[in-house]
Amino acid sequence: RSAVYYAEIIRNNGIPLPKEDEFLYEEFPENFLWSVATAAYQIEGGWRADGKGLSIWDKYAHTPLRIGKDATGDVACDSYHRIEEDVEMLKSLKVSHYRFSISWSRVLPDGTTRYINEKGLNYYERLIDALLAANIVTLYHWDLPQALQDVGGWENDTLVQRFKEYAEVLFQRLGDKVKFWITLNEPYNTAYAGYGVGTAAPGRAPYVVGHNLIKAHAEVWHLYNETFRARQGGLISITINSDWAEPRNPHSQEDVEAARRFMQFFLGWFAHPIFKNGDYSEVMKRTIRERSLAQGLSKSRLPEFTESEKQRIKGTYDYFGLNHYTTVLTYNQNYPKGVMGVATVTDRSWLSSGSLWLKVAPFGFRKILRWIKEEYNNPPIYVTENGVSERGAFEFNDTWRMHYYRTYINEALKAVVLDGVDLRGYTAWTLMDNLEWAAGYEEKFGLYHVNFSDPALPRRPKASAKYYSQIINCNEHLN
Ligand code: NOJ
Repeated sequence: RSAVYYAEIIRNNGIPLPKEDEFLYEEFPENFLWSVATAAYQIEGGWRADGKGLSIWDKYAHTPLRIGKDATGDVACDSYHRIEEDVEMLKSLKVSHYRFSISWSRVLPDGTTRYINEKGLNYYERLIDALLAANIVTLYHWDLPQALQDVGGWENDTLVQRFKEYAEVLFQRLGDKVKFWITLNEPYNTAYAGYGVGTAAPGRAPYVVGHNLIKAHAEVWHLYNETFRARQGGLISITINSDWAEPRNPHSQEDVEAARRFMQFFLGWFAHPIFKNGDYSEVMKRTIRERSLAQGLSKSRLPEFTESEKQRIKGTYDYFGLNHYTTVLTYNQNYPKGVMGVATVTDRSWLSSGSLWLKVAPFGFRKILRWIKEEYNNPPIYVTENGVSERGAFEFNDTWRMHYYRTYINEALKAVVLDGVDLRGYTAWTLMDNLEWAAGYEEKFGLYHVNFSDPALPRRPKASAKYYSQIINCNEHLN
């Protein structure tokens, strides 16, 4: 079976192949990890079940006009009560790993270890036991306990300690069976989408939040490394998201620099301190300082790490976790319009998706993987999310998703085979249609369809589910 190229399988699905010379007929390395992901608030429901505390997303979703069609995660896919159904899908996909996240306020209702909600914790124990696939567990996928938000959320640096205590409970209780941890999912989003750019009242910059998130990650990595690793032997790192930035005009030095700036402000914001030297990139420090001073502030909005903090942050990773979906074309934009002085456009020839921000540009996937290799000294990389959405009339024969996975996964393959990127695993977002945050249930990323108007919430595979499974099959080398 190992001789079967997955390109052949693709052919069998009847999707138009790209030009032969653009497609790489090769296999992924042995032991390549194939996974599919979800996140607690997007699927679990059970928002007050068994003593769960409220999270900031419970509160946000219950505030009118925040989420599309005023949807909430109160029930979502009801995964809190449907372990078996979820595991069934994973089995038929034949993924080697399932990536899910833990709801902090389900385990620690007020965010602190003052009280551990055993019933909440038990849900994750049962899920882990039911899984045939191994697990990848995210400690924080955006649903901060509301009680911690009430003391300022991630703007308050005492959260570094709270996060560490929460992580310790999970390492102690689940660490024998979890060998792959992700501290934070997309800190960029927490800081940027959650806290804004900070140039208007009340003037809180996302950088303070980012600063605390980096420290929180580093502390939890050290905790695992020093106290649990020897006994439990797992991996722990962070998942960073980024678009790829391509200069709009590759011959224009300004556009090329805009692209570099974009990468340092997006991926580099978190990657530079953790994967490089314990500190933000020079271009980020310089740009934000200049902007802050020009606005009449006495110092930069970007906080500084002390020398000992830099030492503590640098190198706190076991792998590079990457979430990637799309690409933008960048060009220079003079202050005061943009914080980083970059404007973006997309190419009109790129296919669109159900999400405004997501255009299909597979070439960027290979480029961002290569960039990570070159910029951060060739770390082992796991893609922890990649996928595409649809919106509007539903169709089980989701050829656009098969096309997306086919072309994106092939670009990842090129990164491995042609560029020598140390890519060790790939994760599709997402197992089933779920709450796409503020976009509600209308933007669907699932390999499985969920009928939300049926109280039984039946899950049914889209064509892409079988397709993804075939890709996995052809590259799986069972021993
Ligand atoms: C990033 C997030 O981690 C995930 O929760 C979200 O649903 C997908 N990307 C798609 O937007």
